[in-house]
Amino acid sequence: MKKFSIVIAGGGSTYTPGIIMMLMDSLDRFPIRSLKLYDNDAKRQEIIAKAVAIALKKVAPQVEFSYTTNPEEAFSDVDFCMAHIRSGGYPMRELDEKIPLRHGVVGQETCGPGGIAYGLRSIPDIVELIDFMEKYSPQCWMLNYSNPASIVAEACRVLRPHARIINICDMPVGTLRRMSYIVGKTPKDLDVKYFGLNHFGWWTSVKGKDGTDYMPQLIDYVSKNGYLTQKAIETQHMDESWQATHKKAADLQAVNPDCLPNTYLKYYLYPDYVVEHSNPDYTRANEVMDGREKKVFGAAQSIIEAGEFRGSEFEIDNHAAFIVDLARAIAYNTHERMLCIVENKGAISNFDPHAMVEVPCLVGSDGAEPLCQGDIPTFQLGMMQQQVAVEKLVVEAYCEHSYQKLWQALTLSKTVPSAKVAKELLDDLIEANKEFWPELR
Ligand code: NAD
Ligand code: G6P
Ligand code: MN
Repeated sequence: MKKFSIVIAGGGSTYTPGIIMMLMDSLDRFPIRSLKLYDNDAKRQEIIAKAVAIALKKVAPQVEFSYTTNPEEAFSDVDFCMAHIRSGGYPMRELDEKIPLRHGVVGQETCGPGGIAYGLRSIPDIVELIDFMEKYSPQCWMLNYSNPASIVAEACRVLRPHARIINICDMPVGTLRRMSYIVGKTPKDLDVKYFGLNHFGWWTSVKGKDGTDYMPQLIDYVSKNGYLTQKAIETQHMDESWQATHKKAADLQAVNPDCLPNTYLKYYLYPDYVVEHSNPDYTRANEVMDGREKKVFGAAQSIIEAGEFRGSEFEIDNHAAFIVDLARAIAYNTHERMLCIVENKGAISNFDPHAMVEVPCLVGSDGAEPLCQGDIPTFQLGMMQQQVAVEKLVVEAYCEHSYQKLWQALTLSKTVPSAKVAKELLDDLIEANKEFWPELR
């Protein structure tokens, strides 16, 4: 049986240990011979890598493990690159969130002006990873979590149209898990229909394998409680601010009563509410730096200091399970059904064929094949046309170094009230991102 070789790009990510633990848990169904970490921040990566080395010695000593900041070493002889880089790190995320709030606008990692700013930082870095992969392991697949996934996916479509990359998001997976709790099933028992853009979509069907339609029950539940559930064994999306987001889904559901919303729609449907409930001095980036980052790096440090892995320091979650399932689906051509971010090509029949959309796909050795979701209603179509134009303008602005197009992108975002605010915001974002963005003319 073939054993696979994997590189994790963004080795120093807070999600790296969880993915590795999941990979080790899955060795019988997805065997691995080599695992490498790659990062452009040697010091950050080293902490995770040293702890992982100790853990692997205990749980899977047969897997060859190494870490590097050298692209050739990292990307040579690999079958899969699991990528989750954060261009600019948490300090830039903090600015993405705080600068818009200073202008009374939603400050969010992937939505609105913050997502646009992050997008312009991510594009060159992801393109660089693709180029390393194609140079050193042309057969390799990149499974990419790096955000903002919608803008990153559009940039890949435009700049590297033939790349073997699949862009993914864990939010629908996490929410499906919550749905499965509500109806007393497991996620693997459920088949869904879904359409949208990344962090911008709706479920139109949730059914059991036997055909049982769970939509009426879910709609009733979500209209009252959002996606807050009693049972929740998740490690991800559990902080108080996330609980508020799950709860807010009730108000999202009210706008489109026939379908179930992605939680991220709150930034577009209730931006005024979001701004009112944000603390401009302490945003999600601060929560993450004080929370997940400290927790994961603290756990790594304690393993290093003890020189020993007890087995429970790192947690496995949906996020890790999804990317391992995806790799496995490609490796064994399983045609498992999963939500991926792909070029529309008619899957949403009445929507731009060249938009990058998030829809159920069959995943196999040729990648992700989108499943037809048919026509979508006018309300969602209108919202998606506006948002996809924002995303396309960001990529055009990047390619053409165009100040004008980036101003248009910000102006068009549903989160921004006027061209005036958009311009003021843009000038602040340019200043904050001058180390990362192309010079705009
Ligand atoms: P993190 O800052 O802890 O980790 C990112 C790592 O990437 C860091 O170690 C950093 O040094 C490294 N890095 C940055 N630029 C790089 C480059 N050009 N080349 C190589 N390495 C580079 O961040 P995190 O919170 O763990 O999140 C990682 C990424 O995963 C983010 O983009 C986040 O938005 C994304 N994410 C996406 C989803 C999704 O649904 N798609 C879910 C969770 C996280
Ligand atoms: C969800 C989204 C990701 C996003 C993450 C943010 O999982 O799908 O795209 O990166 O939430 O979580 P955080 O805990 O970093 O705010
Ligand atoms: Mn996501």
